Amino acid sequence: MTERFSVSLEPDLLKEFAAFLRRHGYRNRSEAVRDLIRRALINDHWQAGGEVVGVLTLVYDHHQRDVQDRLTAIQHDNLGLIVSSTHVHLSHDSCLEVIILRGRARRVRKVSDSLISLPAVQDGHLVVTALTSG
Ligand code: NI
Repeated sequence: MTERFSVSLEPDLLKEFAAFLRRHGYRNRSEAVRDLIRRALINDHWQAGGEVVGVLTLVYDHHQRDVQDRLTAIQHDNLGLIVSSTHVHLSHDSCLEVIILRGRARRVRKVSDSLISLPAVQDGHLVVTALTSG
């Protein structure tokens, strides 16, 4: 069951919003407004330290000393937070590791940062979604 509500916007803001819809391929305003509200709520939830699910991707050089051991040790030290991890051998030197974490926002951020900041990690990104209703 959905409810309707009306929103008043200044012409300039409405024009920018129309351009945003086109750029991102939205077919109607409602769809875009729903996504923007959800994103704002997830962000708020994250800021407030609620429970989140994070997808962490790491690209690293497996030749660098201790990197596999350190990655594994950090994950074993945070068993309750790690839902799953997948390893892909990208090239002769590079590995990709995708780790799914679930827990309090602060802990997910902290553990992710400790993995991203390992010297062998060349690229690391955490994408977070929140466990909100709707
Ligand atoms: Ni590998």
